[in-house]
Amino acid sequence: MKTIFSGVQPTGVITLGNYIGALMQFPTLQDEGNAIYCIVDQHAITVPQDPKELQSNIRTLAATYLAVGIDPNKATLFIQSEVPAHAQAGWMLQCVATIGELERMTQFKDKSDGKESVNAGLLTYPPLMAGDILLYNTNIVPVGEDQKQHIELTRDLAERFNKRFGEVFVIPEIQLPKAGARIKSLQEPTKKMSKSDPNTKATIRLLDTPKQIEKKIKSAVTDSDGYVAFDETNKPGVSNLLTIESAVTGLDIASLVKKYEGLGYGAFKEGVATSLIEHLTPVQERFNELIHSDELDRILDEGAQKANAIASKTVKKMENAMGLGRKLR
Ligand code: TYM
Repeated sequence: MKTIFSGVQPTGVITLGNYIGALMQFPTLQDEGNAIYCIVDQHAITVPQDPKELQSNIRTLAATYLAVGIDPNKATLFIQSEVPAHAQAGWMLQCVATIGELERMTQFKDKSDGKESVNAGLLTYPPLMAGDILLYNTNIVPVGEDQKQHIELTRDLAERFNKRFGEVFVIPEIQLPKAGARIKSLQEPTKKMSKSDPNTKATIRLLDTPKQIEKKIKSAVTDSDGYVAFDETNKPGVSNLLTIESAVTGLDIASLVKKYEGLGYGAFKEGVATSLIEHLTPVQERFNELIHSDELDRILDEGAQKANAIASKTVKKMENAMGLGRKLR
C-alpha cells in the first residue's frame, strides 16, 4: 500500500490555487493508499505571524481539510508542531543540506528578495519540509507545481542521507494534478495565484461568497480577441479560466471550448463563475458546520497520536544511523 503525504500552511486564507493544485486531490488519494495530511504550522512561522491569527488559521485549515472531503476514518490529519519528530528530523536534515542548495531555492529567492532582514528559518525551510515527507516513508507527494523544486531537494537529501548513513528513507515521488498545477492570478495571468497578492481581485479564496466570486471572475484580465480558446502563451487569462472550470467540473478543455463557441467573454465568464460557485457551495456549507464543532479537536488529537507513532520511529532510525545519543534503541 502506498503512503501519500502532503501539507498546507495555515497562513491567511486558502486560495483556489491551493484547492485545485493540492487539496482537491487529497480525498481521492485517501482511497488509494495510506494518506497523511498535515497542517504545517512550523512552516508558517518562517515569516512573521500574529500568534492569535495563527491559532485561528490552524483551526480554519483543519475544518477546510474536512470540508473538501478528508475522511478521518481513512486519512490521518494532524498539526505539525504536535509531532516533535518534525523539528527533530528537520534539524538532522539541515545538517545534511548545504547552504548553497538552500540559497538556490526559487521560493527562498522570491520571499527574501529586497528584504533587509530575513529569518534564518526561511532559508532552512526545505529540510523541514523534507523531514515532513521522509518521516512517513512517503511514496507520493501531491502538490502544485511551485513545490516541485522542494520535492526534488527532498529526494536529493534522502539519497544523500541513505548513502552516507545507510538506507533509512524511501525516495518519494511528486504528483501534480492533471489540470491546474499552477492556477494563475486573475489580474496578471502569467503569475501564480497567491495568498499574499496585495491585489484582492487577483485571488479567489475558497470561502469567498458567490457574489465575490462572480465579481472577481467578471473582472479577470483576458485579451481583446473576443473568442474562447486554450493557448497559454497568447491567451493566458482565458486559458486560466478554462483550466479553473475544467478542474472543478471534470470536463476536458476541448468540450469547454465547444460550450463557449460563438459566445463572447461576458457569457464565458458567467459560465465559469456559475460552475465554480456550484462546486464550492457544498464545500463552504460543510466548512460552516465543522468550524465550531468539538469533533475537530478529537480528530486532530487522534491524528497527532497516529502521526507520532510512525514519525518517532523514523527519528530513532535517523539518530541511530547518524550516531546520535547513547545506544541503538
Ligand atoms: P502552501 O501552503 O504554499 O500551498 C499548499 C499547496 O497549494 C499548492 N498551490 C498551488 N497550486 C496550484 N496553483 C497555485 N496558484 C498554487 N498555490 C499554491 C502548493 O503547491 C501546495 O501543494 N511548502 C508547502 C507546504 C509543505 C508541504 C510539506 C507540502 C510543507 N511540508 C510536505 C507537501 C509535503 C507550501 O508552502 O505549500
